[in-house]
Amino acid sequence: MPPSVHERVRQRVAEVADIVTVALDELLPRVEGPESRLTEAMRYAALGPGKRLRPFFALEASRFFEVDERAVLRAACALECVHAYSLVHDDLPCMDDDDMRRGRPTLHRAYDEATAVLAGDALQTAAFDILLDPETHDDAEIRCELAARLSLSSGARGMAGGQMLDLMGVRDDLGGVARMQRLKTGALFSYAFEIPIIIARVGDPYRAALMNFAHDIGLAYQIVDDLLDAEGDEDLLGKAAQKDAAQGKTNFVTLLGVDAARHRVAHLADQARGHLDLFGAKAENLKASVDFVLKRRS
Ligand code: IPE
Ligand code: IPE
Ligand code: MG
Ligand code: MG
Ligand code: MG
Repeated sequence: MPPSVHERVRQRVAEVADIVTVALDELLPRVEGPESRLTEAMRYAALGPGKRLRPFFALEASRFFEVDERAVLRAACALECVHAYSLVHDDLPCMDDDDMRRGRPTLHRAYDEATAVLAGDALQTAAFDILLDPETHDDAEIRCELAARLSLSSGARGMAGGQMLDLMGVRDDLGGVARMQRLKTGALFSYAFEIPIIIARVGDPYRAALMNFAHDIGLAYQIVDDLLDAEGDEDLLGKAAQKDAAQGKTNFVTLLGVDAARHRVAHLADQARGHLDLFGAKAENLKASVDFVLKRRS
């Protein structure tokens, strides 16, 4: 019997995770020289057992178009470096103060805070090294656009800005929470879809469809993360749970309660799948990945 579409998605996510880890291992600086403590820490953060969902989305969406998969993979690795850096800094005592990440001690626990700050910094710049290397694409305009969009998605108007809002605490305002989530998590999710859009020079209506899909799945993903914080199992999650409310974080779950937050996720999932209709049968896997990604327990 051929595998069900859900089984196919599960296998593909696992396969992408392996491919990305192998590629990152090649791309990250080797552990050698007097500064090897830093390169070792960067590798600890980036090569740990992450789900690699953003690279999965980049590679899956690239199947809709004629693209050089190697270029997409390198750009997806750059995105994963920024994501890994964001988690290292997110876990620091001055931010969420977490001891466990991906089932292992957080970087500042395994090393020390200064090393964690530096490893985050260096992972961020490693992302731009990868994107701007001619190996990524022979067209310098495409390389520059990949770098410019990643910079926007990670900076003050993207992930870092969202993290600031998260720490400041947006109060009792659904619109404010949606914007905060859109920046802190949504911006990097959107970048995953921008990778094939930039490399394949995709225009509307396909571009808009993918960006709308990215918007809904990114927001839904962070609400699921907040639900798992409220109700999840620390052993499965590989990170602490029940911290958001204790730390005074405002999110859809603290604001709306668990049931309404779940309802919002279901609504966003339906809406996300609908955006893919214009891709026809080609989008079957990506549509199926919505439930797979949102029903996660870890
Ligand atoms: C965790 O991201 C932070 C959020 C944006 C919710 P992931 O759930 O993708 O973490 P890893 O990479 O799989 O560890
Ligand atoms: C983190 O959100 C988002 C980023 C790292 C940008 P959270 O703080 O909720 O992520 P976890 O729960 O620590 O993974
Ligand atoms: Mg946080
Ligand atoms: Mg956190
Ligand atoms: Mg969380």
